[in-house]
Amino acid sequence: MCLKTSTNKHFLFHKNFRLNGDLYDAVNVAEDDEWRRIRNHVTPSFASGRIKEMFNIMQHHSNKLILSLQSKVDNNEVITIKDIFGPYSMDVMTSCVFSVDLDSINDPSNPFITHATKLFRFSVPLFLFQGCFPVFIPLLNLLGVSLFPKSSTTFFRAVVEKIRAERSESSRKSMTDVLQYFLNYQTNKVSKERETWGLNDHEILSQLTMLLFAGYETSATTLVFLAYTLARNPEVMKQLQQEIDLTFPNKGLVQYDSLMQMEYLSSVVDECLRLYPPAARIERMTKETVRIKGITIPKNMIVQVPVYALHRDPDLWPDPEEFKPDRFSKENKHNINPYAYLPFGMGPRNCLGKRFALVMIKLALVKVLQTYSFLVCEETEIPLKMHPEGLVGPLKPIKLKLKKRTVVSDVEN
Ligand code: HEM
Repeated sequence: MCLKTSTNKHFLFHKNFRLNGDLYDAVNVAEDDEWRRIRNHVTPSFASGRIKEMFNIMQHHSNKLILSLQSKVDNNEVITIKDIFGPYSMDVMTSCVFSVDLDSINDPSNPFITHATKLFRFSVPLFLFQGCFPVFIPLLNLLGVSLFPKSSTTFFRAVVEKIRAERSESSRKSMTDVLQYFLNYQTNKVSKERETWGLNDHEILSQLTMLLFAGYETSATTLVFLAYTLARNPEVMKQLQQEIDLTFPNKGLVQYDSLMQMEYLSSVVDECLRLYPPAARIERMTKETVRIKGITIPKNMIVQVPVYALHRDPDLWPDPEEFKPDRFSKENKHNINPYAYLPFGMGPRNCLGKRFALVMIKLALVKVLQTYSFLVCEETEIPLKMHPEGLVGPLKPIKLKLKKRTVVSDVEN
């Protein structure tokens, strides 16, 4: 069933895939009052003031990203784009979440990367089975069946547990990461008071694990698709490089406020997320029977919103397959129906890391385009075959070349 209208009044809080294994209390799967309490604790750790503080960490990793590109470009290598943006995204996430600099930019086969990638490729048959036959869910839970590969959730949990245990009282004071934020409000009480007392140990570990992979794969994949679409649309890339050069002359230091005010950059990112929204669908469950436009939806029914299909619907987007950032320009974007564009979801359960993700993505893109241009090469797959499972992503890794820009403010031929 495809509903192009939405009402938040009746569709509440359902994100639960049911077979969550040990991640049953992570913010994206918790329900009702539990979800509200946990979300209230997680949200402030990604408030704008804190993201500004984390910007320095992002700067550090974006500089390392640029350094790592140098020899590859000098050797005219064909570059697997996920191998540069994946580690950048993971390094930013682990540094901001628990102050661990993995340096995976220099070690892309780091187990963090391999496990995080596996977490999102969950089994579609199993997902459909548990949706169609919820009666089997208790049995599957009993058998330890989980949508998320157990080896990967166990890996993350063990690492996070170790980091948390090693954080001594004395080191705590100097830490400003997300883990420390949770620890400052920690409780082990299980009582009504908990509402005001923070998260317990298990909940903290679940949030940290979930944040890592909620943030890693989505942001890395968006950067990969940005590189791909820009390589295929050099005119757009040139216009973006002109805006970058104008905002930060002579490859100047990228500053937070100016970065966030760049209009064309914003349009390019928005348009890329229209064509390639990492979450192809979002879902909600009805809390009560509801009738919308003549369709009755019974209580407890899961309704899927087909984000990918909405983003490419020709009734909503002229030339939907074309990459046209101007759809999102200041003059045009008020014409867009907000329910037709849902890369970060909508309503109270929308993406908690949206602002953080956009800063991390924009910074990396600007830094790369200050020095390099993306180029399609023989190894670039056109058109792309998409992966049938998990998040929206290419079936085979996207390969491109990068070319050094000769004069910073030039318009290359
Ligand atoms: C381009 C990057 C990203 C995209 C496209 C994206 C997209 C989404 C979408 C579509 C949802 C579901 C929203 C809904 O059902 O209405 C979601 C939820 C969520 N995202 Fe993101 N996300 C991104 C990055 C991040 C980052 C960096 C973090 C963490 C720092 C994050 C944390 C979360 C969390 C915790 C939820 C669950 C919220 C809840 O259920 O209350 N995301 N995201």
